[in-house]
Amino acid sequence: RSLHNAPPPALLLLFTARVNTSPMLSSGCPDRCVCDDQLVVQCAGQHLTTFPVNLPLATRQLIISNNRIVELPPLALNYLSDLVYLDCSNNSLTEISESTFGNLRKLAYLDLSFNTLIHIEDRTFGPLVSLVMLRMTDNPGLSEMHQDAFVENAALQVLDVSRNNLTVVNITSLIALPALRSVGLSGNPWSCECDNEDLCLWVHLEDEGQTVCGSPADMQGRRLGEVGIQLRTLCHQTLGSWDYLFFVVIGFVIFAAGTVSAWVMGVIMVLYERYIKKKDEQLDVDDEEESSETGHTSHLCPSRLINVRTH
Ligand SMILES: *[C@@H]1O[C@H](CO)[C@@H](O)[C@H](O)[C@H]1NC(C)=O
Ligand SMILES: *[C@@H]1O[C@H](CO)[C@@H](O)[C@H](O)[C@H]1NC(C)=O
Ligand SMILES: *[C@@H]1O[C@H](CO)[C@@H](O)[C@H](O)[C@H]1NC(C)=O
Repeated sequence: RSLHNAPPPALLLLFTARVNTSPMLSSGCPDRCVCDDQLVVQCAGQHLTTFPVNLPLATRQLIISNNRIVELPPLALNYLSDLVYLDCSNNSLTEISESTFGNLRKLAYLDLSFNTLIHIEDRTFGPLVSLVMLRMTDNPGLSEMHQDAFVENAALQVLDVSRNNLTVVNITSLIALPALRSVGLSGNPWSCECDNEDLCLWVHLEDEGQTVCGSPADMQGRRLGEVGIQLRTLCHQTLGSWDYLFFVVIGFVIFAAGTVSAWVMGVIMVLYERYIKKKDEQLDVDDEEESSETGHTSHLCPSRLINVRTH
């Protein structure tokens, strides 16, 4: 029975043979690229204008930097589900979207620097659940990054968006990423206005030398770290009409309370004075009555005599 269950020797041989010839070797290597047995495909600086075709399916590292590739085709890229490292720096990429990286669940390193990207949409990097480092520097036209672009990249540790054309970034959603420990922001024309106050205050804590304001004009070139505190006071000064109404009402209440308490105090004072006067009068009357009763004897009191003499 055990013999019956074991695979026939011929099938076993076929299986081992298929393991030996890995799919990478069997599917060859793209033109002008070098493929090695570590599943690294190196196509840097080959004047490529399109994404290489005929890539080994098991490719783990793909380097297509220093070419003039204009597009990352989602279909071809997402066959490479074992891809861990992708360097697309220094190309002519203008657009990437959620579907571009739809299936690269093992990708840990992505470099999109020195391209011509313009904006980063919501969820662009969403499928990249293993992404640890994203370099996206030196895209001179990159001026918009959706606030939720990285929201699903829980493994992201290093994000570098230096030397782009960014004016605002939602730092709150960035620093909410659990693994993030480094953010490169320098060399962007950051807006130093109230809509970007959080970023300025955050940079104040981190303090990066080259992170300076690009606008408004009177702030240009000043370090974000310096203007952060200034913005905090500036941005919370503006009062709305409700605030003014509040102050008017409060002022009136204080005035009224003052008036009422002054009136009450006045009444009390008058009443008190009257009371004292009444008491004095009563005492005088008593005194007079007393002195008239005792008659001349009081004038002979020795102490009173002394008083009269000294004054
Ligand atoms: C970009 O690639 C070109 C070749 O395509 C090369 O001449 C140039 O030096 C590279 N630039 C950078 C910044 O690496
Ligand atoms: C950078 O963005 C500004 C608008 O915020 C735009 O006027 C300018 O042309 C952009 N620069 C580049 C190089 O695209
Ligand atoms: C930043 O993004 C979060 C959501 O990710 C949002 O709730 C918040 O209002 C945004 N802040 C600003 C200043 O836009």
